[in-house]
Amino acid sequence: MNRKIELTVSLEVVQQKNWSEQDKILIAKATNILESAHAPYSGFLVGAALLLENGAIFAANNQENVSFPVGICAERAVLSYAMANHPDIRPVKIVIVAKRKGESEFATVTPCGLCRQTINEYEVKFNSPIEISMLNPNGEILKASGIEQLLPFRFNNLKG
Ligand code: THU
Repeated sequence: MNRKIELTVSLEVVQQKNWSEQDKILIAKATNILESAHAPYSGFLVGAALLLENGAIFAANNQENVSFPVGICAERAVLSYAMANHPDIRPVKIVIVAKRKGESEFATVTPCGLCRQTINEYEVKFNSPIEISMLNPNGEILKASGIEQLLPFRFNNLKG
């Protein structure tokens, strides 16, 4: 019989009445910036807000391109900007929200595979998990304590 390797992952579901003050601020910033996303091809507007250890908050949105693969997601946009400008300050948490163009209700969103691998990169760089919060249409936050919960069996080590 072959041996099995099993990992269990979990997300915490945080109801709106239990949102922390910090969650509220980050969700507001992400919601605000999603309105200026450049998403003429998908009509899917995403905002991401990133909190650094020193309390600084950055926000960005998705930027699409007529050559579709050139587009960049909100999560990678905000991480790239923040880490380019503050390479020594640890990212603590990222909040992601989305809406379809013309709709007022939030859309369900979870980071794509490329963004998961990017979040992993900064966890490794700072040797510390980054909390990932995803807003649901019903006002619940799905919280992952770190990228391990979204990307088990991830690629992490070139040297073996
Ligand atoms: N998108 C993000 O920006 N973040 C996500 O977590 C999911 C997807 C963008 C990429 C593309 O511009 C649009 O949403 C539709 O996939």
